[in-house]
Amino acid sequence: MQRGEEGRGARRRRRGGRGRGLLVPVRVAVSVAVRVRVRVRALAAASALAASAAAGRGRGEALVLEARLARGDIAAVIMEPAMCNQGAIAPAPGYLEGALAACRRNGTILIFDEVITGFRLGRSGAQARFGVTPDLSIFAKAIANGFPVAALVGRGDLMDMFATGGVLHGGTFNSQPVTMAAMVAAQNELTAQQYESASRRGVRLRDGIATILQESGIKAQVTGFELMFHVGFGLDAPARSYRDLLKLDKVLYVKFAHALLKRGVRILERGAWFVSFVHDDAVIDATLEAVRSAAQEIAAGK
Ligand SMILES: Cc1ncc(COP(=O)(O)O)c(C=O)c1O
Repeated sequence: MQRGEEGRGARRRRRGGRGRGLLVPVRVAVSVAVRVRVRVRALAAASALAASAAAGRGRGEALVLEARLARGDIAAVIMEPAMCNQGAIAPAPGYLEGALAACRRNGTILIFDEVITGFRLGRSGAQARFGVTPDLSIFAKAIANGFPVAALVGRGDLMDMFATGGVLHGGTFNSQPVTMAAMVAAQNELTAQQYESASRRGVRLRDGIATILQESGIKAQVTGFELMFHVGFGLDAPARSYRDLLKLDKVLYVKFAHALLKRGVRILERGAWFVSFVHDDAVIDATLEAVRSAAQEIAAGK
């Protein structure tokens, strides 16, 4: 599947499968701002979910979701199982389980967007890490080491609808041989041993950055996972929701990014850091050295 096709495929699936018209995209696993793109009447649910995120209670948030689903007009809920598109936030305890149970009780399909989390939060993605299996999942990015591949996977009865004619899915680049070969090659590299050593280096980088920023007097929260984490300037406490991330000091972080660029390290201005298998100990050491120097520069206000 070509990048971008996975989400469209999932949306076609849920329309074909449920005979309902609404899709609720939950912006984060802790149920933050829900953007309901399809119909305005779901906006009430969005604000309710955002409010519940502030309370930070996983089960409570799932109950809010359930209240919305109980109206019976939602075909599918799509969410990142851990919020990594913005920040790097693990789901509140009980939230994913509660969301799945709420979907089950109301005949709604649960879709996990593992485009970022897939193959990064572990060999089997966030769903294995947090022990919750959705009905459908979408993967991309790390599935083929950056080659333009996306995959929609999930329950057999839902996937069968592509074959039995219930849902039409076409695409010029579907199963394109070169990208499929890239995917097979990438998958063969994703061994437990590789994850273990890369995770150790990722934690060293993540924790090293946190220590350096603290020593430099820069207010920041460094949160997230081993191979994917987030550096948030200006936060007093780890972000638990999209709303918390609105308080980020983005101006200072961009200065940090520029200071790092001058030292040969290119980072994403939105605060996300990704560690790959080629980031060996020498790369981690060099990066930490650059981070120390860049942090000192921006702390001094140069
Ligand atoms: C979490 C997440 N889901 C979906 C997408 C959409 O991917 P695509 O570029 O295939 O539309 C992105 C894009 O980066 C993403 O980060």
